Amino acid sequence: MDEKIIDLKKELDGELSACENVADLENIRVKYLGKKGSVTDLLKEMKNLSNEEKKTFGQKVNELKNEVSDKITERMNDLKKKELEKELNAMPEFDVSMPPSLDRGSYHPITLVQRQCEAVFKSMGFAVEDYSEVVTDYECFEALNIPKHHPARDMQDTYYLENGQLLKSHTSAAQNAIYKKYKDALVNEGKPIKAIFPGRCFRNEATDACHENTFFQMEGVMVDKDISISSLIFFMKTMLSEVFKKDIKVRLRPGFFPFVEPGFELDISCLICGGDGCPSCKHSGWLELCPCGMIHPEVLKAGGIDPEEYTGFAFGLGLTRLAMMKYGVKDIRDLNSGSLKSLSQFTDDE
Ligand code: PHE
Repeated sequence: MDEKIIDLKKELDGELSACENVADLENIRVKYLGKKGSVTDLLKEMKNLSNEEKKTFGQKVNELKNEVSDKITERMNDLKKKELEKELNAMPEFDVSMPPSLDRGSYHPITLVQRQCEAVFKSMGFAVEDYSEVVTDYECFEALNIPKHHPARDMQDTYYLENGQLLKSHTSAAQNAIYKKYKDALVNEGKPIKAIFPGRCFRNEATDACHENTFFQMEGVMVDKDISISSLIFFMKTMLSEVFKKDIKVRLRPGFFPFVEPGFELDISCLICGGDGCPSCKHSGWLELCPCGMIHPEVLKAGGIDPEEYTGFAFGLGLTRLAMMKYGVKDIRDLNSGSLKSLSQFTDDE
């Protein structure tokens, strides 16, 4: 019996030193210590021995079992270490003092201003809504008090699908759906409608440095009892001051849009000259930024809201324009160019 133990140890040592990977080693473990393994077989042979012999032999086999198990574990650690070393050596050299790679992705400047505006309006309790780019004639025009053949449609020629739907020419196209979504909470629970909805807009337009056929707007509406023009001025001023990180002066000029009454063009004091007059503001000291107004009673009615009881304001902030102003982009076409060289240089300064 003792011989068997010695032979087994020799055999194991040979196999262990020949074994070069973790999977083979696992097979060796099963071969010796598994249910049908050689060490287990030795224990089975004990039944033929006398009681006295059983005691000493049993002890020896147990010692053998521990020894085999220790040797396998030791070899396992060795092999694992070797495998790790091999992996590390295969890795390219890494210099921790290198500056970070400039190939990381970056946000588009329009995304950056959109996020900044969203954050400000969210903090004032506005919901951020998404709306489809393909809309119906009703949503884009009729529900906004722009009937067929109204001259206001000329300004907003867009791309039509064969089924009569169209690519929205302004984010106002979502107004009707927003009123319908929130009107019950307004009437039954007295919750004011406060929502912004940024989106991509399209117009059939010849492009130049200031005009694009694809651009972004962010519409905002608020409807409640006793909403007035001063509410509109307050929200716009707060938002712009946050986005530009300085106190922004605003002024309203009359402007015509069939879906607001009265309608305005909101100007901000020129960011470049501070209002003294410079070429960027055509020496007026003001920049045109955001058309807005009090929602027309017909538009509220189309959205299922009683204009005798509720009033509201709406604005259509030009996100593309805002990004151009904030980041000093001179040609609007750069924004859709996909040129990473010009688009990846902006970062969120928050
Ligand atoms: N939708 C208008 C446009 O794109 C802007 C606007 C929105 C005007 C909301 C007034 C109120 O020209």
